[in-house]
Amino acid sequence: MSGFSADWLALREPWDHAARQAAAHRLDAAALAGGLRPAGGPLGVLDLACGTGANLRELAPQFGGEQHWTLVDHDPALLDALPVTLQQWAQLQGHASHVDAGGRSGTLRCAQGLWQVRWQARRLDLATELDRLPWQGVQLLTASALIDLVSEAWLQRLVAASRAHGAALWMALGVDGRDRWAPDDPDDPVVEAAFRAHQGRDKGFGPALGPRAPQVLAQRLADAGYRVTTTASDWRLDGPAATALRRALIEGIRAAACEQQPAQAATFRAWAARRQAQAGRLSLHIGHTEVVGWR
Ligand SMILES: C[S@@+](CC[C@H](N)C(=O)[O-])C[C@H]1O[C@@H](n2cnc3c(N)ncnc32)[C@H](O)[C@@H]1O
Repeated sequence: MSGFSADWLALREPWDHAARQAAAHRLDAAALAGGLRPAGGPLGVLDLACGTGANLRELAPQFGGEQHWTLVDHDPALLDALPVTLQQWAQLQGHASHVDAGGRSGTLRCAQGLWQVRWQARRLDLATELDRLPWQGVQLLTASALIDLVSEAWLQRLVAASRAHGAALWMALGVDGRDRWAPDDPDDPVVEAAFRAHQGRDKGFGPALGPRAPQVLAQRLADAGYRVTTTASDWRLDGPAATALRRALIEGIRAAACEQQPAQAATFRAWAARRQAQAGRLSLHIGHTEVVGWR
């Protein structure tokens, strides 16, 4: 599949970060990590569909202590951007970072000595190579902004594999359909119907769950004997700082809706033109859910 450029991931990362920080007090990441960490050893984390490493940047400081991360994605361009993005982030935060020769592994060390990460990146197609995941030494499987792209059958295979390897799961930022636009537009319902249908298209993993994903995952985890907690991590795209992301979302929704229902393209284009004209003052909330499961 395509469509996840490093630019798009960089545009959304501050809003993902704000959403996850707002949820952080309801999810005790340090306690979860403490419960999973093997005695005297690093916490082993496997991050699926890592993009440029946003999930590591979010969770590693929250987990604390020594951590080994394996970051998996199928996109070579994103894997190439990963070390640079990690280094830039570390520099901005005042942390130490090192990238090994070859650019596929390295270390990050917190400036205050609260955590350190050894990371390595692996190229894998998760749609076809799920059975090749490197599980050794992994206590936590995680992903951000992935679960709505996958099918129920694929998710079930992932839960079964995680259970077989004794791993907890933290699936972040799954879209859940609780979207709110203010002000309303009369064509919001038709646009949303086409967009939701497009979200359900196969993204390489079978028919995509779209906004049903968090609920389905929570149920599958409970069925597999996991204790589960879910909490909202919504994008709150208000004010001028969010205008660029609102514009990008309007364009993405227009394109998806037109692809899904070409016969209604004129309606979707007119909706997008009205929404773009309002983009500087729109209030847009996009519902996301964090799903955490442990045994
Ligand atoms: C919405 S992005 C999320 C990236 C990152 N986790 C983040 O939060 O910024 C979805 C990611 O899924 C990856 N992806 C999509 N299909 C994949 C596949 N079949 N195998 C591995 N990665 C895949 C994309 O390359 C992209 O990095």
